[in-house]
Amino acid sequence: MVLVFLHPLRRGEDDMGNKLTILDIIEKKTKNEKFTMLTAYDAAFASLLDGLGIDILLVGDSLGMVILGYESTVPVTMDEMIHHAKAVKRGVRSSLLVGDMPFLSYQAGKDTAIANAGRFLKEAGCDGVKVEGGIEVCDIVHALVTAGIPVMGHIGLTPQTASQLGGYRVQGRDLQSARRLLDAARALNEVGVFSLVLECIPDRLAGRITELISVPTIGIGAGPFCDGQVLVTHDLLGLFERFTPRFVRRYADLSSQIKDAVSAFKEDVSTARFPGEEHSFSIADEVLKGLGED
Ligand code: KIV
Repeated sequence: MVLVFLHPLRRGEDDMGNKLTILDIIEKKTKNEKFTMLTAYDAAFASLLDGLGIDILLVGDSLGMVILGYESTVPVTMDEMIHHAKAVKRGVRSSLLVGDMPFLSYQAGKDTAIANAGRFLKEAGCDGVKVEGGIEVCDIVHALVTAGIPVMGHIGLTPQTASQLGGYRVQGRDLQSARRLLDAARALNEVGVFSLVLECIPDRLAGRITELISVPTIGIGAGPFCDGQVLVTHDLLGLFERFTPRFVRRYADLSSQIKDAVSAFKEDVSTARFPGEEHSFSIADEVLKGLGED
């Protein structure tokens, strides 16, 4: 009899034992275990974040502002999202991978929504998709879930429709809008989302929603009572300079470090301090001599 012993890590690779699933994320709520989600737009960052145990990687349509240089998330296309989601997938081993449905990729109808969401799963290998909106998207979300596509909801400040909401501002502060958000959370829960992003809403309202629904809430600018927390990675690292929302904690200032490093490179080249001998490759004298005057 041949006994095959697999190292735990190898075992994880082989039977996908380390890969987080939708059920693992839902279970975290029942176990009262806080979890993390961060955005990723390429394989290099995905591999770093996945290796550090971030539970969910979101290929957010923030891609448009953070990476592609658009003014808002509105212009982002499905093809751009799929291109980046495929790259992120190449860096993922354990994290749950969620693709963000860009503006007008789902609002036009159930068939379009299913076709586009299906691309995230079939072409990019995502585990699920995220959809912005409240009661108005419940039919679409229901159609996606019925088609077998796991959906993460997103209510509160929904950047794709920020202009309708009066800009990038806190939502749900008055009774009417707080109730609307509560109703939306309940309705999305009923049509089968597996989690719900709460963006830029008051902390105690987020707490009420978190108590009310059976699936995990993931807060961004929604206070400490959510089940999980999400940030845009480039905000957390100080890599996005256009603006920093109040709810972001910057854990690093990588823009400054990049500027210092690049300035030092430029200075070293202009003063002939780079490259040094240690960065260069030698050639034997006779080989050089053999070249003569050529
Ligand atoms: O696009 C994005 O990055 C997002 C997160 C902020 C939740 O939707």
